[in-house]
Amino acid sequence: MQIKFLLTHRDLFAQQLLLCSDIFCPMSKTSTQQTSAFKEIPNPPYDLVVVGELNMDLILDHVNNLPEIGKERIAENMTITLGSSSAILASNASVLGLCTAFTGRVGDDLFGNRILRILDERGLDTSNILVSDKVNTGLTCIYTTKGDRGMITYPGAMEELTIKDINWEQIGSARHLHLSSYYLQKGIRPDCAELFNKAKAMGLTTSLDTNWDPDEQWGDEIYDILKFIDVFLPNDEEAMLISKKDNLDDALHFLTSLGCIVVATCGSKGIIAQSGSTRYTVTSVPVTSVDAIGAGDSFNAGFLSRFVKGQSLEESLKFGVVTGAFSTLEAGGTTAFEDIERFQKFAARANPQLTKTETKATDVKS
Ligand SMILES: Nc1ncnc2c1ncn2[C@@H]1O[C@H](COP(=O)(O)OP(=O)(O)O)[C@@H](O)[C@H]1O
Ligand SMILES: [Mg+2]
Repeated sequence: MQIKFLLTHRDLFAQQLLLCSDIFCPMSKTSTQQTSAFKEIPNPPYDLVVVGELNMDLILDHVNNLPEIGKERIAENMTITLGSSSAILASNASVLGLCTAFTGRVGDDLFGNRILRILDERGLDTSNILVSDKVNTGLTCIYTTKGDRGMITYPGAMEELTIKDINWEQIGSARHLHLSSYYLQKGIRPDCAELFNKAKAMGLTTSLDTNWDPDEQWGDEIYDILKFIDVFLPNDEEAMLISKKDNLDDALHFLTSLGCIVVATCGSKGIIAQSGSTRYTVTSVPVTSVDAIGAGDSFNAGFLSRFVKGQSLEESLKFGVVTGAFSTLEAGGTTAFEDIERFQKFAARANPQLTKTETKATDVKS
């Protein structure tokens, strides 16, 4: 079943409306106006509210040589697709069945329009995606060459999102709040502790995936935020850099000592997680990967789609490695999830192995 079959007539009408407005009139909304054609889609209560960055990805595959100033390079393939960690997570979570709302910012331009249309089509509530009139929508240019990849990001409107843009009524009607790409979101970053503190006080569960710090500062202020986080979702390298430990074992002990469950994703090796003194490892699902763009976000989407619905940590971790692996089967982070029938077959065959052990907490506080 393709995603479009999940849509109601009203949704299809909304799509057509957005398509028409794309062609005939540029976005004319100001930064305080709402953007969804039908702001009641989907209806609260929400399973998940994602506060995050929005950008398109321009992927140039198999560039013949590393880019260099003053020289031209040729790519074999080009894809323009929904980017941004937060949007990939939110889009895939919605496709996997979570009633999802998004808070973010785009520019008044072609890419902003496209992002809104894609997220609307995938059934998200986009009514709190605001349109900035001063800066353009973010864009990440990704080039792959000789089995590796490089990225250049123009942050644009994502940096304009601040705590003033939070719709507290929307948060109050949700079960779970997630934020991705903490380091990229300079406008809301100083207020993340307040955001999560308030969300916890309102009874939500919470999760955070910082992703990479482009300034490579990995500051300690993150520890004040982790106090209000139920599940922290870094990859293994980020976990070590944030905790300032040179091995994942110490990193997991340190981060869990701050009070959260920590799930460190380890690429093709699967995941290692820790809750209190209990350690979980889950093997990955073997795949012939096209690219790993958005694998972490797709892991998060699968994990949250179970965790938020009250399933066990074990079940949520196992489902996450299935969705993480599945995302690598197509270019970009969301393309694979356009074919839900294929996902269902993939998930039915996948058999990730979970091991649970008790760990001895060493004195790792810094
Ligand atoms: N090549 C792969 N084969 C199978 N599973 C993968 C592969 N790459 C990623 N995954 C799955 O996706 C998860 C997240 O990927 P990872 O690369 O660790 O995240 P990030 O994109 O945040 O760095 C992994 O824990 C794993 O379960
Ligand atoms: Mg990641």
